[in-house]
Order: sequence, then structure tokens, then C-alpha cells
Amino acid sequence: MSKTKEHRILEYVLKNAERGNPQSVVDHIDKYCSQKEWAMNVGDEKGLILDNVLKETDPTVALELGTYCGYSAVRIARLLKPGAHLFTVEMNPVHADVANQMIEFAGVQDKVKILQGSTEQIIPTLKTEHGLQHVDFVFIDHFGNRYTADTKLLESCGLLKKGSVLIADNVLYPGAPDFLEYVRNSGHYDCTNFPSHVEYTDKADAMEKAVFRG
Ligand SMILES: C[S@@+](CC[C@H](N)C(=O)[O-])C[C@H]1O[C@@H](n2cnc3c(N)ncnc32)[C@H](O)[C@@H]1O
Repeated sequence: MSKTKEHRILEYVLKNAERGNPQSVVDHIDKYCSQKEWAMNVGDEKGLILDNVLKETDPTVALELGTYCGYSAVRIARLLKPGAHLFTVEMNPVHADVANQMIEFAGVQDKVKILQGSTEQIIPTLKTEHGLQHVDFVFIDHFGNRYTADTKLLESCGLLKKGSVLIADNVLYPGAPDFLEYVRNSGHYDCTNFPSHVEYTDKADAMEKAVFRG
């Protein structure tokens, strides 16, 4: 069986990055994906926006929708304070397996828990099966057609509290117009747009931050 791109990214990291050093893992994924094969990580440019929003939020419980190879999970985990955790949801078992190895190699496995399944299945179990009360920070980065439905699901499951921060990727490209319409006009959120570029390209994209009003 031929290797997937995701396995080639992992193989490059295992061979070239420093074990136990999350920054080295992030840097080597960026190097591979900017020089060899494009991949849908949030990337180095939008990653800085993600870092800044994460730092100002300083979450105890963070949630990610869409793990892929674990790039943003490692990126987030490296900035979490002691005792804080990231739960990251991935429906593709191959991606979840690659991410698991990436997270373990980066040495952040005690901070990150991969929940394998679709967001629509997993979100309703976060309180009952995973012991979460609320989430302080949510990185929304799966597929745009689920952004609005999953935001409403987070609300209806009582997972958001006043000040919970959502940050969504790819709101300009491929685009998430119904999500932007919802968070900007529902009256439940205070929104900020961060213009940027599609990872590893100069094509315009943006991230949207939406802070839940409670
Ligand atoms: C853009 S990638 C995530 C990139 C990752 N956040 C990063 O920056 O490194 C999107 C991922 O979401 C997953 N995905 C798409 N729809 C999903 C759903 N409904 N539930 C769970 N995972 C989903 C895909 O399999 C894919 O691995």
C-alpha cells in the first residue's frame, strides 16, 4: 500500500525534528509543507494569530474541531499553562493515528487527548463521557459546512460560558459565509476578523474570533 501524504509528513518529522520539542515539530511540519507537499495545517502565518488569541485567552480547557496531523494540537499544547488540557476531535482514523504519533513525538501527550469520531457525535458526549463543564477556547478547523451547526451544538450542550473564545480558520477560503453571518448577527458573540493567507501560499484567507456573550 502506498504511503499517504500524512504519513510522509510524519516520517519527515520523526527523522528530522527533535523528539520532545514541540516547537521543533511545528517548524519541521511547516518546512515540509512549504517546500515539499502542501497540506491543510493552519500553518505558520495563521498559526501566529492562533497563538496570540490562545495566549490572551489562557484557557484551562481547550477544544479543537479537526486534528488532521496534529500540527495545531502541538502548536496549542506548547502554549498551555500547567494543568490545562486540549481535547481535539478527528473523524478520520488515519489522521487520528498520525496525530497521535506526532503528539507523542512532540512530548505533549499528557496535555492533549484525541477524541476519534465526528464532531456531531463527540460534542454531545463532552460533558457526560469526558467530564468537561465548559470550554474556554475552541479552535474550529474541520470542514466549513459544519462550523455553524457545531457552534450551535456547543451552545445547546451548555459547553460555552461567558467569555468562551471561538477562533475559526478558513472563513474566507474555502469560506464559511453562514458561520460569519451567524456569529456576527446572532447577538451571542463579539467578533473580530483577522485577515491572513491560505497556509503556505499568498492567497487571501482570514480567521474569525467570536467571544461568547453568555
Ligand atoms: C483543516 S484539517 C485540520 C487542520 C489542523 N487543525 C491543523 O491546523 O493542524 C481538517 C480536519 O478535520 C477533519 N474533519 C472534517 N470534518 C469533521 C467532522 N465533522 N468531525 C471530525 N473531524 C472532521 C478532517 O478529517 C481533517 O483531518
